[in-house]
Amino acid sequence: MLGSSYQVARRAFQQPQSAFPRMRNYLRAIFVGVVVFAVPRVLGLFDFHQCDRRCRGAYGSDPIHPDMSITGKQLSETRCRCFRGSQELGEIDRLDPWNPPILPPNVCCGADGRNYATQEEACAAGTFPLHGGFCGACSNGHDINIYNETRNTLTNTTTHCALIATLEGEDRGRECMEKKVGFTPACNQCWIDNMGCDSAQCLGICLEAKEKHWPPNWPDGSLNDCLKCDEARCGTQFITCAGANRRRCGILSDIERPGSTVWRRYAC
Ligand SMILES: *[C@@H]1O[C@H](CO)[C@@H](O)[C@H](O)[C@H]1NC(C)=O
Ligand SMILES: *[C@@H]1O[C@H](CO)[C@@H](O)[C@H](O)[C@H]1NC(C)=O
Repeated sequence: MLGSSYQVARRAFQQPQSAFPRMRNYLRAIFVGVVVFAVPRVLGLFDFHQCDRRCRGAYGSDPIHPDMSITGKQLSETRCRCFRGSQELGEIDRLDPWNPPILPPNVCCGADGRNYATQEEACAAGTFPLHGGFCGACSNGHDINIYNETRNTLTNTTTHCALIATLEGEDRGRECMEKKVGFTPACNQCWIDNMGCDSAQCLGICLEAKEKHWPPNWPDGSLNDCLKCDEARCGTQFITCAGANRRRCGILSDIERPGSTVWRRYAC
């Protein structure tokens, strides 16, 4: 008697319960969605180290060997708070400002690794101009040779590695670059940092570019919107770190630029 009423009660409970698992899966899917997408956005977990880089740029003195004790914490889409160890340094803008063109007209980096005001001055000092603009981590024969040899494929390769860095993390992206490109470690890091900046600031438009296989240039010769965003928002940070890019070495690449922006050695 007791047993059968228990059975009845159990069946009564089981009936509506059969609708629960689906409901539960649905709620779980929403919960997972919120945890995976919304919470990190609100908490600023999709920072891609943008605040670390911005803080090192603002409070560190050497862009080529950044002070890694400086870190940044994202406060919002547009603000970072900077620390050295546990000491608070201040707050800065998280997004790089729109930057002016990056090639100073006369300055050059000598093959001796020093900056010269003009190409003639480099010659007079007994060396020769390696590339236009200030020296950086890529201002050496090894990295410039790679720029030259990979001039038609580097954009594609780095876009591929950038996607890996975004989806699987910075270390995987670094391995991809080491394997497929082979820059010196310091130069490679400038590229990795640039990928992080792009992920933080140009992710949507660059995913679209990758998915739609946009060529580097539009028919009118202007940069595609991903490269445009990269140049505007991450360009100065990159060139300060790297020193040499292809244009600054006089190397024509798969990205068409107006000829006047490609550097040319004319002295010694
Ligand atoms: C790039 O390589 C070509 C030969 O393929 C060479 O003539 C040129 O000088 C090189 N340029 C640089 C900047 O190394
Ligand atoms: C671009 O890189 C990807 C991945 O390395 C490769 O599969 C693809 O063939 C490359 N495309 C071009 C046009 O080089």
